[in-house]
Amino acid sequence: MNASIITPSHTVESMFPTADQIPEAFRIKTPINQREYLINGELRHWDGEVEEVISPIHIQTDQGLVAAKIGHFPLLSEQESLAALNAAVTAYNRGRGVWPTLSVAQRIEHLQDFTYRMQEQRDEVVNILMWEIGKSYADSQKEFDRTLDYIRDTIDALKNLDRVSSRFEIVEGVIGQIRRAPLGVVLCMGPSNYPLNETFTLLIPALIMGNTVVVKTPRPGTLPLYPLQSAFQKAFPPGVVNIIYGSGRTVTPPLMASGLVDVLAFIGSSRAANSLEKQHPKLNRLRTIYGLEAKNPAIILPDADLNLTVRECILGTLSYNGQRCTALKILFVQRQIAEAFIEQFRLAVNNLKFGMPWDEGVTLTPLAEPGKPQYLMELVEDAKKFGAEVVNAGGGTFRETFFYPAVVYPVTAQMRLYHEEQFGPVIPVMPYDDLETPINYIVNSNYGQQVSIFGQDTEAIAALIDPLVNQVCRVNINSQCQRGPDTFPFTGRKDSAEGTLSVSDALRSFSIRTLVAAKETDLNKSLITQILKERQSNFLSTDFIL
Ligand code: G3H
Repeated sequence: MNASIITPSHTVESMFPTADQIPEAFRIKTPINQREYLINGELRHWDGEVEEVISPIHIQTDQGLVAAKIGHFPLLSEQESLAALNAAVTAYNRGRGVWPTLSVAQRIEHLQDFTYRMQEQRDEVVNILMWEIGKSYADSQKEFDRTLDYIRDTIDALKNLDRVSSRFEIVEGVIGQIRRAPLGVVLCMGPSNYPLNETFTLLIPALIMGNTVVVKTPRPGTLPLYPLQSAFQKAFPPGVVNIIYGSGRTVTPPLMASGLVDVLAFIGSSRAANSLEKQHPKLNRLRTIYGLEAKNPAIILPDADLNLTVRECILGTLSYNGQRCTALKILFVQRQIAEAFIEQFRLAVNNLKFGMPWDEGVTLTPLAEPGKPQYLMELVEDAKKFGAEVVNAGGGTFRETFFYPAVVYPVTAQMRLYHEEQFGPVIPVMPYDDLETPINYIVNSNYGQQVSIFGQDTEAIAALIDPLVNQVCRVNINSQCQRGPDTFPFTGRKDSAEGTLSVSDALRSFSIRTLVAAKETDLNKSLITQILKERQSNFLSTDFIL
């Protein structure tokens, strides 16, 4: 392979800024030293141990590169964690609390109030996302705005659902009104890569359906919720939203072991999900809603439009440095076009801007997960041992938290990169002669989230769609894998998910169908009519939300 393009290695060496070079608008002027945590509608003060938040962004100083410290958060103990649970259990009050018995229209009003308050914190949350998880300014803004849209869309979806349920059905002489009711107390845990958006894709549907919630924030990714605590406090009745901070090993096992969590809503690894789930003493009472790991492949057919394919594969593999559960994590390329594909792909990688999250047009930024560059390097070294090469200039160069993307070719089944979810900027490319190679990969994989197919021959694409829709939950044609639009169902098979998330599916996941039924007698008809006329029930009601 010709690697004559300009190597980025020398600039990687000097990519971190001095303090003066950080634009004024993006500086952390006062450290975000969080000591408050939200339990039972109170912002309580924590005097105990805290954990320092170390940014992946390093600063050049006279003493060399120093990781920026942006603040700290409380390392709560089991006691505070159980107090949060107790607050949520009391607010739910076995389904008799204020929140689970409010009308849908009233719950929507609380959510709307929260949305206005949340909007006011946009700049601060966006800045924290950049500093704590190294997400670019554009993507951090997108994460915030997409979350607000998600809340608005959820409100609309619930209105629709409620309109459909506001009517009665009469079948076989039985009158029934069927609605969805809450499940109870939800433990809600989002991931580090989308600490705001994905936490909210669990939290918002859980809340709006009438559940009460304990949120455990991810690490890294803890501080983005801090500026929103007071919005939660003001917008919801006490105990409906409680937020705990600290080490997962300390604060989550007692919650699960109590048996009082009715829903575990978790986005992260299947190992962590399983270990939490197992601690619940009554598994049949626990509903689990999971977004787990994935290793989405791309299958590039011999007639694929290379410009389009390279563009989508760059987005798929390297948006937010490949740290997306939906990222393309292995590329299968038909052998005849493999060299041509790699030539274009490595040039496209070379054209990506790397730097600090606030740099305009930046794609590649420092990685927040501790030890990540070292792990990625291990994967690359392992692949080299089995005969692969890094085929792009400067690929795998790293400095502190920054890892320049490595395009690794040819990947084989012996290599760790073939099996492991790298969740970072390493792109394994595997040539194939027979389509059975990528199909078998998908069939035998532990994961089953999505796949991308690139090509133009309708017969070949159709012949792949039919077997693949039974292996994964979304087949993308000439497009990268992705979660959005958020109204589309988002789920996976095998170790990739449990339950379905999307604006409308999530409303179903966080609720259960419940009905009121009565034999169609004169007594029952007049009784129901009276309840409706006098508006005596929030559930048995024909109110139509406009
Ligand atoms: O980490 C997984 C996210 O759900 C990815 O969402 O495909 O919209 O980036 P996205």
